[in-house]
Formats: sequence, structure tokens, C-alpha cells
Amino acid sequence: MDKKNLDWANLGFAYLKADWRYVSNYRNGAWDEGGLTQDDMIAMSEDAGVLQYAQTVFEGLKAYTTEDGRIVCFRPDLNDARLKMSCERLEIPVLPEGRFTEAVTKVVSANAAWVPPYGSGASLYIRPYIFGISPVIGVKPAEEYQFRTFVTPVGPYFKGGAKPISVKISDFDRAAPRGTGHIKAGLNYAMSLHAIVTAHNEGFSENIYLDPGTRTKIEETGGANILFADGDGNLVVPRSDSILPSITRRSIEYVAEHYLGLKVTERDVYLSEVGEFKECGLCGTAAVISPVGHIYDHGKDIWFESGMEKMGPVMQKLYDTLTGIQLGRIEAPEGWIHTICEA
Ligand code: PLP
Ligand code: COI
Repeated sequence: MDKKNLDWANLGFAYLKADWRYVSNYRNGAWDEGGLTQDDMIAMSEDAGVLQYAQTVFEGLKAYTTEDGRIVCFRPDLNDARLKMSCERLEIPVLPEGRFTEAVTKVVSANAAWVPPYGSGASLYIRPYIFGISPVIGVKPAEEYQFRTFVTPVGPYFKGGAKPISVKISDFDRAAPRGTGHIKAGLNYAMSLHAIVTAHNEGFSENIYLDPGTRTKIEETGGANILFADGDGNLVVPRSDSILPSITRRSIEYVAEHYLGLKVTERDVYLSEVGEFKECGLCGTAAVISPVGHIYDHGKDIWFESGMEKMGPVMQKLYDTLTGIQLGRIEAPEGWIHTICEA
């Protein structure tokens, strides 16, 4: 199959319009059959639920070309489960069983020419989402919804790829206790836009959010969970009910324990102890594992021993093992790799 003529190795994290997307509509209490379309435009009421009260949830996962030439995606069952959780929290009707994976499989297959080749360092980002499309003026859920899935080829989320980044402790809070921090809803990102623009203007790549209750504990960044490596080379991971349960982070914890023999501790991580860690990394579908070399906290600098030049040894081992599994170089745990097209 002919690939698109793109400079795969130099893609950033930006939207490129691929050929096909999947659309299904929910009307009269049921999802229709759905199918592929080339139409990327959406016409809706000026009063659609998504436009008035931000009733929308989404997912993010990636498809890869493996070393042996298959097109695969990574643990879509977990994205499906998390989308269901997000829908339930925002009163959005859940998809029929199997529909999520069907949409992902159909869109990726139809856009096979857009899946970056093995070895390019790029991947195909898949964005499934559901939004309220019918008119709503009193505060209540919409009656009609649309589920769409599009894809776009992407490179590294942070400029410079695997170079350590500098992040700041945000003055803003991301998620209230008992709020919506644990689901993947557009509203969690709308509120982060002023904070991320501020951070970028100050020269930082991301914001670290603290727990809003006490502002003493590390939660996560705007688009990734956080990992630390301690002085013994073990993994310490912030635990909180208001962070997004990252699929990458859960996979890394498994890899750390079962492939690398590291100890993994999920616990409250206090800002006051962060300077004692040797390495820090951000993890997520988009971020993969992005090393953090420096945290700025209101006039105080925290520099990690791993420095600003390259990833530290623990993050590097985790990165190599995780991406090795995703690209078919290392045997994956049962059920982690979903083959979309055979070689
Ligand atoms: N945290 C936030 C706020 C995110 O937006 C993401 C991205 O999906 C993650 C964490 C990482 O989650 P995952 O590894 O499932 O992509
Ligand atoms: C992802 O990693 O899939 C996300 O949704 C993060 C977003 C900031 C791009």
C-alpha cells in the first residue's frame, strides 16, 4: 500500500486532515449503525449541548506500524472502558458493546496510508469523541449525540522529542475533589488553556497541578500523569482520585514490575519531597515518556540529577521497554496489542 508523501520523521503534534473518519448518531434513545465518511465538517444547532454546556468527552490512543509490518493499536479496551466512565459522569449515552473498537479499527484501516512507517518515530493518533448535538437551553443533558473518530499522524508532543523539559507548578487548580479530574472531558482542558498559555509565555513546557484541597501534593500535568524515580532506581507514582487514570502510566507500572523488576509505589507525593527524587517523567499517549529536568516552584528551582541533556536511566529503560512492546520488538503481555491490519 502506498503511504502518503509526508516527512514522517519530522512531524510535530499537529492536526493533519486524513481521508476517512467514523460517525455514528444517537437519536430516539439509540445509536445508529454508524460508518465511515470523508466529510470532516459538522453542522449542528447554534444551541447544541456541546456548544452551550461543554457536554463532550474524548479519548486518545495511537496506532503503530510494527517491526514486522503490521498495523496495531495499544490496549484500546482500556480507552473504551474509560470513555464509558467519562460518558456516565457527563450523562452521555454509552456506546453499544464493541462499537468503540469497531470505529477505531475501521478508521485506522481506511487510513492505512496515513500510518507512519516503522522506524520513523511517528505514530497515528486516534481521537474518538462524543458530544451533545441537539439544542439545550436549560441546564440538562442533550437528547441527541454524535460519536466521531478521526486520526492524524503525529510526532513528539513536546518540541525536541526526548530532550528533558522544564515545567512549572501551576497557580491554578485542575480538578476539584469529587469533581471531573478522573474523566477525559473537554471541560478539563478548556480550564487549562489560560494556565498553559501562561506557562508557555514564561518558557515552561507544561504545568504541574497540585491537589486543590491542600495544594501540597503532586497531581498531574495538563496532558499527562507524572512518574518519579527514587535514589534506589524504583518508581514512585502520585496517587489521587482526581487525576486521569492514564493507560500509559498503568502500563508502565506493569512493565516496571514485571519486565524490569523495579519496585512501584503509588502514594501521596508531596511537593516538599520532590527534590529528593533522581528522575521525573511525564507519561501519556501523546507524551509517551517525556523526561522532566527542571521544576519551577514560585521562585524555587528543582533540578533532577538526570539533567537537561538526556533522559535518566530509569525513564530510558521504561521508555525502551514500553515502545519496544508497542512496536512489536518485545513480547507484549496478553491482550495489549490489537492487530488492525496484518503485514
Ligand atoms: N492525564 C491527562 C490530563 C491527559 O490528558 C492524558 C492523556 O490522555 C493522560 C494523563 C495520559 O493518559 P493516557 O496514558 O491514557 O493517554
Ligand atoms: C493524549 O495523550 O491522548 C491526550 O489526550 C493528551 C492531550 C494533551 C493531547
